[in-house]
Amino acid sequence: MSEASLPFNEKIIPIKTLGEEWERSIRNPHEFWAEKAKALRWMKTWDKVLDDSNPPFYKWFSGGILNICDNALDRHLTTPKKNKLAYIWEGEDGEVRSFTFYQLYREVNKLAKIFKNFGLKKGDRVAVYLPMIPELPITLLATVRLGGIHTVVFSGFSAEALADRINDCQAKILVTADGAYRRGKTVMLKDTADRALANTPTVEKVVVVRRTGQQVSMKEGRDYYYHDLMSKVEANAYVPPEPMEATDPVFILYTSGTTGKPKGVQHGTGGYLVWGYWTLKWGFDPKDEDIWWCTADIGWITGHTYNVYAPLALGVTSFIFEGTPDYPAQDRWWEIIEKHGITILYTTPTAIRMFMRYGEEWVNKHDLSTLRLLGSVGEPINPEAWRWYYKVIGKEKLAIIDTWWQTETGGFMIAPLSGLELVPLKPGSATKPLPGVQADVWDEKGQPSPISTRGFLVIKGPWPGMLQMLWRDPERYKQAYFSRFPNVYYTGDYAIRDPDGYFWLLGRADEVLKVAGHRIGTVELESELVAHPAVSEAAVMGKEDPVKGEVPVAFVVLRSGYSPSDQLRQQLVQHIRSTIGPIATPEAIVMVNKLPKTRSGKIMRRLLKAVLAGAALGDVSTLEDEASVEDIKATYEELRKQLEKK
Ligand code: PRX
Repeated sequence: MSEASLPFNEKIIPIKTLGEEWERSIRNPHEFWAEKAKALRWMKTWDKVLDDSNPPFYKWFSGGILNICDNALDRHLTTPKKNKLAYIWEGEDGEVRSFTFYQLYREVNKLAKIFKNFGLKKGDRVAVYLPMIPELPITLLATVRLGGIHTVVFSGFSAEALADRINDCQAKILVTADGAYRRGKTVMLKDTADRALANTPTVEKVVVVRRTGQQVSMKEGRDYYYHDLMSKVEANAYVPPEPMEATDPVFILYTSGTTGKPKGVQHGTGGYLVWGYWTLKWGFDPKDEDIWWCTADIGWITGHTYNVYAPLALGVTSFIFEGTPDYPAQDRWWEIIEKHGITILYTTPTAIRMFMRYGEEWVNKHDLSTLRLLGSVGEPINPEAWRWYYKVIGKEKLAIIDTWWQTETGGFMIAPLSGLELVPLKPGSATKPLPGVQADVWDEKGQPSPISTRGFLVIKGPWPGMLQMLWRDPERYKQAYFSRFPNVYYTGDYAIRDPDGYFWLLGRADEVLKVAGHRIGTVELESELVAHPAVSEAAVMGKEDPVKGEVPVAFVVLRSGYSPSDQLRQQLVQHIRSTIGPIATPEAIVMVNKLPKTRSGKIMRRLLKAVLAGAALGDVSTLEDEASVEDIKATYEELRKQLEKK
């Protein structure tokens, strides 16, 4: 997003006046969070709200004991929520299944019993590789009921990516499906899982949900069909929820960073749940009559927090959808909203921009009058997309809750809060930090950036939803988040603060891309490309894209003996799809004679960015330790020509 185009002064619909909560949360965090944590059910109250004796390893609610599944399900059984719908699910083919809190509780207990019989104990890891079907949240809840730690691998990831994640956390059980539906076709999930399982010695049991009914290979003594197992468990099976320390890990979710290997972001039980509960309540204030639709796949953090733990803990009805937004037709989502009476829609700017392209006639065919609130997440929302969302979907009546946050933060961090203190909205700004969040914008030196000047977004103190660390890698945790500015959380994002104190998020400041809201490390792509026999060097950059925000473009230098061809380009694309997954597919692969480098051998990313943006090269003479100016100019011209040919 270009800074110049941001409508700093445009303000839309103030609903409530600013509250006192933020001030209070910073003045007295212990008292504040103790009060908030009481909204959950604890088996034993904490001894200390925040143990900050060993920063940056913060312990929230230490000494407290609770179980997340108990809070999500059991707790509602003595209330009128017992027979309320927890989930309404629609399959790609239009099939609908729904579960009350009680029915979900039954299913979860049955699966927990199966896991228990498999020998799953507190602290053991369960890997999950499933499409968006009800068995996915059921698996997560059954795991945490027993005190297990889940790691969900998005079903679009490759066998290699799945195996890496399973091996990193040494999962004992894998839950997958025979196949998945995608745009009317079946995807061979179990086949992919089998390829991963060939290299994952820790996995003892594999549970396979039958979704597509296709033939798959089942290994005797290791692989079991979910439905066969479930049909053998008594209907009233009950497994007591494991008493968990608030500081025990609840899940690991791998995400991309600036180094090659994905990071195993580890969240803790108590702090994470308190954060999920309150952020959803403050942000969207869901009521008993609401039907909440967060369109994220549960394979990502947004799905973990806002399709599973927060809405269940709040006793909210969630809608979950298996399919893609424009299949079989471009009005699928609007048809869903009309059919199920969705009241809150929480989605991504990429989806909004896609629908903008299709045109409002697809929207206007449907009655969207049940909607009362809209949300956005995952990438900066450009003011044009914001206005379209506001006008065409919200009919200029609904607030847009633009939530800035990350896998690491557990839940929303900067967002307008319709349940607390909704400030006037400005199209494209996520507005202000939530209670407990000390956000600031700093320059290179760690000084606050002047108002309206771009800098790095930092968080100056701990908050309950923050990651505990990276799985079994405390050093990398410190290095990745607390080394750029000592003891201050570095987000990796650029931001500006305007004269009203509003935050404008401007995308990543590091080598991480946001492609259609998915987080992809350029280094991951580069290492996979150079692992291919034809490639000697690679540099991957993000190129602006009108729908997806940005897309990866790879510049590669071939090894001798290989020459540029479309066939080789195809092979490299295929290589990325099979080693990382289709979400990382480069938009273009540009084969060049050499990459622009400084004298010390560093790739000049700025120059590559300029080429991609079609921008002028700019002043190269001021660059530190650069290669010869002539050389750089010549390389720039070559890259530009190659790109044009593409
Ligand atoms: O760059 C920011 C962008 O997404 C990154 C976090 O990605 P991930 O861990 O995959 O989590 C996505 C879902 C929370 C951030 O560093 N981002 C997320 N939400 C927004 C955003 N950028 C601008 N505005 C947002 N609302």
